[in-house]
Amino acid sequence: MQAQTTTHADTQEITDLILQAAEKAQAETSHEPEPALTHKVDWPVACTINHGLDGAIANETKIGYVNGSKGWLIYRGYNIFDLAAHSTFEEVTYLLITGKAPTRAELDEFKQKLFGYMGVSETIKHLSALPIAKMNPMAGLSLGVNILRHEGEGVDNLDAAFRLVGGLAAITGAVARTRAGEKPVAPDPELSFAGNFLYMMTGKKPTPTATRIMDVALILHADHGSNASTFTAMVVASTLSDLFFAVDAGIGALNGPLHGGANAEVLLVLKEIGSVDKVKSWYEQARAAKRKIMGFGHRVYKAYDPRARILEPLAAHLAQGHEEARKLIDIAHALEQEVISTLGAQKGIFPNVDFYSGLVYQNMEIPRELFTPIFAVSRVAGWAARVLEYVEDNRIFRPRAVYVGPFHDKFTPIEERG
Ligand code: CMC
Repeated sequence: MQAQTTTHADTQEITDLILQAAEKAQAETSHEPEPALTHKVDWPVACTINHGLDGAIANETKIGYVNGSKGWLIYRGYNIFDLAAHSTFEEVTYLLITGKAPTRAELDEFKQKLFGYMGVSETIKHLSALPIAKMNPMAGLSLGVNILRHEGEGVDNLDAAFRLVGGLAAITGAVARTRAGEKPVAPDPELSFAGNFLYMMTGKKPTPTATRIMDVALILHADHGSNASTFTAMVVASTLSDLFFAVDAGIGALNGPLHGGANAEVLLVLKEIGSVDKVKSWYEQARAAKRKIMGFGHRVYKAYDPRARILEPLAAHLAQGHEEARKLIDIAHALEQEVISTLGAQKGIFPNVDFYSGLVYQNMEIPRELFTPIFAVSRVAGWAARVLEYVEDNRIFRPRAVYVGPFHDKFTPIEERG
């Protein structure tokens, strides 16, 4: 695969960590696509569907592919390790949404556009008048998207997609600042998307390392097959509603602890465990209580999630020299060993993206409540890409449910009911 031309000279140590993770993944996995999931669908398709639409094939896509048994993730044909090592979130967003890896000129123009959409001062002004400091930040994002929708009424789908990517970062920044009791800040033209996103959340100019790691995190979360929030967005769009409503619905689905909300829960678990010597007994109790371990398991991956492979060394890198952060990483490593040794081979349960992302953000001093909004700022690229692709050949999503309730022969009027 051809590497992108972007260089990351200031943060070579981050690239090296990603390349090492890629080597490890390559040594453990082979590269064979699954025929049933990588060929054109001849509708109607035969598939075995389990509870929760497990196994259902809903559509064809050219956007991305997850090979769950091998543990690889592809965006538009490019391996996630290559994208994380050599590209930027702006490039990945352009690639996902337009289907084409940008030239330097196309990328520069696109960055200008995104930067413009990060400066949505009217949306931020209206949003700031609402009680976003006290509400669930994901609810703040939802409100922001609806205000953005009002401002973008009538724009075409592609423009709506770009407005949403830039706008959601600005909205998250405003939510973060307002929660911290500070005023939202405008983007800085000198900074990249990831740099601006950090700046708009914290009010501080980020270091090259923090910017690069946020950029990588955004790349890793941008798209992931027919996950719950993406599918939700597609269902909404399939009614010929619009992209803003679809993204708003995606935000709602992402919020749950079984999906994007897991990264915040992981941190609570690691703190609850408290120290490495307590990991074994905590885990035994959790298993006995049939408790799901947050940050582990996946509907599709039955192998190590490639995103977690990249985020783990980045979390460890950021923890260097910070005693508390180091302690949490050590607990995480010990928990990972326990879970893999008991459930890895047996049930295909390994760390997922959420296991280490929370540690990365915590080590960047980002409050826990913002972990899931950060996920949304990235995933909006995938939501938009997949929605735009689906509506090109739209058919409303409408599965059936099996009725298992009673059939009453006669209606009992309210006065006659006991
Ligand atoms: N800890 C312990 N056991 C687990 C876990 C876990 N985290 N995940 C799955 N299992 C077991 C589960 O108990 C079941 O065992 P059995 O067959 O004996 O009943 C088996 O594995 C299959 O689990 P499932 O719940 O039927 O799997 P699912 O495909 O419906 O759910 C999942 C996938 C991600 C919701 C689930 O693994 C889970 O709840 N994980 C914890 C939450 C989490 O980390 N979510 C983030 C997912 S990745 C990022 C994202 O998509 O947002």
